[in-house]
Amino acid sequence: MNKKFDIEHLNSIRSDSYFKDFSHIKIGGKAKYLFIPQSISDLVFIFDFTSKNKLPVFPIGGGSNVLLGNAKNRVLILDRKLSKICEINSDEVVVSANFNVNSLIMNLKKNNLGGLEFLATIPAHIGGLLKMNAGAFGKNISEYLKWIEVLNKYGEIEIIQKDEIEFSYRKSSIKDYILKAAFKLERKSEEEIDSQIKRFRRIREETQPINFPNLGCIFKNPKGESAGKLIDECGLKGEKIGDVEISQKHANFIINRGNACFEDVNNLIKLIKKKVYVKIGIELELEITILD
Ligand code: EPU
Repeated sequence: MNKKFDIEHLNSIRSDSYFKDFSHIKIGGKAKYLFIPQSISDLVFIFDFTSKNKLPVFPIGGGSNVLLGNAKNRVLILDRKLSKICEINSDEVVVSANFNVNSLIMNLKKNNLGGLEFLATIPAHIGGLLKMNAGAFGKNISEYLKWIEVLNKYGEIEIIQKDEIEFSYRKSSIKDYILKAAFKLERKSEEEIDSQIKRFRRIREETQPINFPNLGCIFKNPKGESAGKLIDECGLKGEKIGDVEISQKHANFIINRGNACFEDVNNLIKLIKKKVYVKIGIELELEITILD
């Protein structure tokens, strides 16, 4: 491939959009390199470009737990135009990483397969949920995983079995770009699955500000503690900077009340960390990714 073609091709899958249009908290300016690949070969092409230019890559998935300021020279990848698959066979599903988890739960329900209902209402894609080993109500997504298919840094497609991956609380050892995942589910009736979804949705609606643009929980829970409870104990609920507010419902959530910007969220996060450390002596660790 000659240089001219490289640049033309890269430009054809590059987007000038504002990141706020893709982020769940509706914040973020124009990144220098925001790519929206349509095929695996586009992805290979992007990785070729990033490895030659030594640029860090950040898959954005559903844009639900990334706070983006000035993306600098980082390369952001949005997966929405890659092909979507969801193939159910007996009690297993093979699903593309760009599949929304709520759509997956609904597809599985029609086939009397359940297990992942605890993730219902999270506005995220399967790839991102796996990368961070998302969890709620005492369960983690990795419990249902069989294998993942990735595009490795050499541009090769590879299957990685679950036992080759380390999973812990909100963490995985996955480094490569996830393309697909296979899960083994539980046989359940549609009614049972429906009632589980409704139960988890009701708890979330009652305890989390899911109807406002947010980033999910900002901090990981320190061992044996709840970050939300600690922030609450510091009297920080309702604290505001500009249009950014620490939720009155759950103190580990920050909500966008209108025109929130990166700096306001970042400053509120710094304020929370400082107050919790000074008052309680615990250093909170971020669960979200901040690309400043
Ligand atoms: N609490 C307060 N004040 C608050 C928030 C919570 O006192 O502002 C108290 C609650 O009353 C409860 C305890 O803290 O006694 C724990 O709260 P909750 O049940 O809401 O759970 P959490 O530890 O705050 C975790 C996950 C959530 C997940 C819920 C439900 C983390 C960081 N958070 O929250 O995950 O949805 O359990 O299982 O692990 C996420 O990862 O983005 C996330 C939201």
